[in-house]
Amino acid sequence: MDFPAQLLAWHKTNSRDLPWKHTSDPYKIWLSEIILQQTRVAQGIPYYIRFKERFPTVAALAAAHIDEILRLWQGLGYYSRARNLHLTAQQIVEQHQGTFPKTTKELLTLKGIGPYTAAAIASFAWNEPVPALDGNGYRILSRIFGIDAPPDTQHGKKQFTEIATQLLPPEHAGTFNQALMDFGSTICTPKPVCDKCPLQSGCHAFAHHTTEILPAKRRRTTIRTRHFHYLYLRRGTFTFIRKRTKKDIWNNLYEFPLIETNRATNPQKLPATPEWKTLFTQHPWHINQTPNALKHQLSHQTIHATFYTIDIPETPEQIANEYLQIQQTELNEYPMPRLLTLFLENT
Ligand code: ADE
Repeated sequence: MDFPAQLLAWHKTNSRDLPWKHTSDPYKIWLSEIILQQTRVAQGIPYYIRFKERFPTVAALAAAHIDEILRLWQGLGYYSRARNLHLTAQQIVEQHQGTFPKTTKELLTLKGIGPYTAAAIASFAWNEPVPALDGNGYRILSRIFGIDAPPDTQHGKKQFTEIATQLLPPEHAGTFNQALMDFGSTICTPKPVCDKCPLQSGCHAFAHHTTEILPAKRRRTTIRTRHFHYLYLRRGTFTFIRKRTKKDIWNNLYEFPLIETNRATNPQKLPATPEWKTLFTQHPWHINQTPNALKHQLSHQTIHATFYTIDIPETPEQIANEYLQIQQTELNEYPMPRLLTLFLENT
């Protein structure tokens, strides 16, 4: 079976029309790839369009204030990607006069551009003959050729990259890479549509009934569980937030006063904790609504969050010293973790 020829033939009539396919501008290709590393195509499209309209060039992105980038990124999660986007744009402006380097090798010297992104940019923008394998590519190759190495391990990646390098038609590198992505998101999906697949007769996994177990999974890393208690303090029309600056999740995003406990704590008992007493000292408070519990899943942490809506007639010292007093109506001007915006949308 000539897998590359069959894949390209399928792609000729089944290519998906996506906004970033109409450009060979490496900046826009890069932008789309970083967004798509964070979300699905359908959700990524409006973000891509907003970013490229607000920041049409890498220089415009580099010159932006990080808060504006984080606000545009809001809802995608994993904000270090947005920060890296900004830093990489600045590096391209400062070290490469605002022009993307034109080879995979040079692209890899940029902060925040890894092997996949470098190969995607170089093959889509300049047709450099390098495979750009994302989850789609790994899934297809693992099934067609019956490869059982997990793609998220070093030895697995190496094996898949070697096979893809041999398969890649040098004159159609960009199209081949794009075809893998399109085929993987429409036919060879996690639950594949084998009865519509033109490659079925040559597929190792179809013949051996292993489509459901390929690609192979690596054992998951442990997930940390945390218990957050957020205090949405209301003093008249004011509220209080601060920027997270520690080496932890959500660096540089804004949040309400937070009490983190080591274990699940009954909301009624939170006012009895030393943290609560230190925060309020003698100042009066009144919990206005039933505390609101939300569970939030990050890649390596499960956050059990409880939101307390609290009315205060005066500002406790610790709050005045450590937090920013803003109008409640100004909250949407500050980039916040998705967890907090979800709470606010339902308040
Ligand atoms: N996923 C990542 N990059 C993509 C692209 N260029 N087209 C479709 N899906 C993708």
